[in-house]
Amino acid sequence: MNDEIILSVKNLKKWFPLRRTIEEFFSGNRRWVKAVDGISFDVKRGEIFSLIGESGCGKTTTGRLIMKLEEATDGEIIFKNEDITSFTSAEKVKTYKEHVQMVFQDPYASMNPRFRVRDVLSEPLIIHKKVHTLQEREDLVRRALEEVKLTPVEEFMDRYPHMLSGGQRQRVATARTLILSPELIVADEPVSMIDLSTRAEILHMMKEVQKDLQLTYIYITHDLSTARYFCDRIAVMYLGRIVELGNADEIIENPLHPYTKALIEAVPEPLPGKENKIKEIPIKGEVPSAANIPKGCRFHPRCIYAEPKCYEGVEDPDLVEDSNEHFVACYRYKEINNVAENA
Ligand SMILES: Nc1ncnc2c1ncn2[C@@H]1O[C@H](COP(=O)(O)OP(=O)(O)O)[C@@H](O)[C@H]1O
Ligand code: SF4
Ligand SMILES: [Mg+2]
Repeated sequence: MNDEIILSVKNLKKWFPLRRTIEEFFSGNRRWVKAVDGISFDVKRGEIFSLIGESGCGKTTTGRLIMKLEEATDGEIIFKNEDITSFTSAEKVKTYKEHVQMVFQDPYASMNPRFRVRDVLSEPLIIHKKVHTLQEREDLVRRALEEVKLTPVEEFMDRYPHMLSGGQRQRVATARTLILSPELIVADEPVSMIDLSTRAEILHMMKEVQKDLQLTYIYITHDLSTARYFCDRIAVMYLGRIVELGNADEIIENPLHPYTKALIEAVPEPLPGKENKIKEIPIKGEVPSAANIPKGCRFHPRCIYAEPKCYEGVEDPDLVEDSNEHFVACYRYKEINNVAENA
């Protein structure tokens, strides 16, 4: 990893309109699902950057905005010095999509069941007019399958998706993203639908590929335990915002935000002689709806440290740097963590 910024997200928002009632229609009022509500982060070339949080916090929407599968409500996404949110020409979008690829949660749903593996992998080459001869196409398909360790290649080329295991399908999905030699891959919960026993193997393969081809990943997950193994840096999301961001080891060993602390508490620990048990997250209540975001610090109704100064007459806390690229958005993090006032 170096310090070159490959992708920069600035105050990004995605609000989906809620269906209006007749009264709202006539009064001109609109209500919104604030799926992504002002997030900013930089991704460095060659790193694995993780977006973590509970279901519904806006991870997939962020990934889809970066992939340009959704249009942003506000903010910028700068890829190699160009703001992709302002791209309108189909040609520019197509070129961008060669450089940035996505691995989806459900590899089965993202593949045409009537396509054999060789067709699944050939499709992007045909769409992007990348090869001129059948031999060139065959060579690239073989190379991508070798890269994801689906060997001997002949054994897999002519299989249909239903003839593959979940892990093998995710290897094919990864191979398909590699075929256009992208620079950035957005992987949205790539192992959450795979057998527990195969998850580590697939993540290991993805990491090897990333090192081999010097790729940059944005890894989206709700699972803190895989993120620690897999990532360089972590951004913790809550209800459309980033509440903590920093080096993966630092976040896990020294979490500053009450929400991150709770997520870490909830990770099951292997106890000798006992089965792993999923612990309950030690926070109050359920995640509120993104259509009805609490005032002030949006985490306050669930926070065990909440005080009136967190929500009375104040905005949501900004993400501020505590130390050494470790950022946190909490009015009370210093008191809670005994961080010196001048730190
Ligand atoms: N197309 C959509 N229309 C309306 N609401 C949406 C749409 N897509 C996502 N949402 C809402 O936005 C919020 C964030 O969703 P999502 O990005 O899928 O979260 P995550 O991937 O973290 O589970 C959720 O409240 C979800 O219901
Ligand atoms: S600002 Fe207050 S309510 Fe929000 S996370 Fe910090 S302590 Fe909790
Ligand atoms: Mg999701």
